[in-house]
Amino acid sequence: MGINLVFNVDRLQFHLNAGLLKQQSTVLLKLLNLQTSGVSIVFIDDRAMAEYNFTYRGKHGPTNVLSFQAEALPAELSGNELGDILISVETAGREAGQKGISLHQRITELIIHGILHLTGYDHENSTREALIMWEKEQLLFKQLIQQRRPTMPQLAINVDHVATIRQARGITEPDPVIAAGICELAGAKGIVVHLREDRRHIQDRDVQLLRQTVKTKLNLEMAAAKEIIDIALDLKPDMITLVPEKRKELTTEGGLDVIANEKKLKKTIAKMSRAGIPVSIFIDPDAAQIEASLEIGATFVELHTGRYCDADNEKQRDNEFRLIERSAELAFESGLRVNAGHGLDYRTTTRIAALPVIEELSIGHAVISRAVYVGLDQAVREMQDCITMAGL
Ligand code: PXP
Repeated sequence: MGINLVFNVDRLQFHLNAGLLKQQSTVLLKLLNLQTSGVSIVFIDDRAMAEYNFTYRGKHGPTNVLSFQAEALPAELSGNELGDILISVETAGREAGQKGISLHQRITELIIHGILHLTGYDHENSTREALIMWEKEQLLFKQLIQQRRPTMPQLAINVDHVATIRQARGITEPDPVIAAGICELAGAKGIVVHLREDRRHIQDRDVQLLRQTVKTKLNLEMAAAKEIIDIALDLKPDMITLVPEKRKELTTEGGLDVIANEKKLKKTIAKMSRAGIPVSIFIDPDAAQIEASLEIGATFVELHTGRYCDADNEKQRDNEFRLIERSAELAFESGLRVNAGHGLDYRTTTRIAALPVIEELSIGHAVISRAVYVGLDQAVREMQDCITMAGL
C-alpha cells in the first residue's frame, strides 16, 4: 500500500520532484489516518485528460484533476486501495501561473483535492459540502507545510581549515578526522569537507576515514569534475554539495551558475541519483538559479550567505538578507530542500537560522578560528547557541 506515482509525462520537463511529491502524499494519508491505504497518482497531459473527462463525465476539454474511487472494484481486488487520482500537469501549470504560485504547490493542492474526493468529500453535492471540503483542503495544506518545515536548522561544521593548518606543515596534525569527532560530540549534526581538485586542504585519506567515522551526516563539497565525481560515487557520502571551483580563489567565491553549466550538472546529478546520493547545489540567492536547480533534478540548494555576511553597512546587509529570505521561500515552495552557508559567524548566524525553511547551516571558518582561542568543543557549542537563540 502507500503512494504509487505514475508519470505519463516527462517528469524532468515539468520539473516535478517525485521524491517530495511521494513524501508529501504519504504525510497526507497519515494526516487523514489512512496510512494503511493505497493511492495511485497518475500525471498526464491535457490530451489524455480530455479523453478521460469526456469518457467518464461527458465533458469536453481537459480538467485539472479527476479521482476514481477503488470502491467500484470488487472488495477482493481493491483491498485497502482508495483509488486513482489523475492530474493534468499542463492544466496545473496554467493554473499555477494564474495564481502566481509554483507548479509544485498547485499539484500539492490538486493531490489534496483528489485524496479528499477519494475519501468521500464532494463539493458538487451542495454549497455546504463545497465549503466543508474547501476548509478541509486549507487545513491539510497548512498541516502539510508545517510538517515539512524544519523546526530549527541543524549545524553542520566544515572542518577544511583544520586540514589547512595541517597542510601548512605537511605533517599529520591537526587531524580533521579527530576534529570532526569533537564537533559531533559537541552537538554538530553534520560534517562538511571540500575535496578540492588541488587538494589544498582535505586529502583523499581524510574523506575515506571520515566516511568510516562520521556518525551524523557526511556532506562532501565538490566540483563537478570527473576525478572527484568518481571518488564520490565510490565513497558514497550522505550527500554532496556541488560548488564552483577556481584554482586561484582563497575560498569558494560565488554560487554555481547552474544555467551556464546545466548539461554537466544534470549529468552529475543523474549519476549521483543512480547511486542514491542526494545532491545540493550551492547557488546565489537568485530566482533563475533556483528554477534551474529544480529543473536539473537537485534535491537541495544551499543558498550563498556570503554577501549578507560581508555587507559593509546595515542597509546593505538588510537587502542581502531579504534576498536570502525570499529565495529560501521560493526554493521551498518549489519543492526543493534548503540549506545555507558561507561566511556565517557568531554575529550573522542567528538571523539566518530564524528563517523557517532552512534545514542546515554549513559553517567552517568562524568556528575553526574561534577554536584557536576557546577550543573546538566550546566553539561549536557557542555556534549552536547562536542557532538556538533564533528559536527563542
Ligand atoms: N558552504 C559552502 C558551499 C562552502 O564552499 C563553504 C566554504 O568551504 C562553506 C559553506 C563554509 O563557509 P565558511 O568557512 O565561510 O563558514
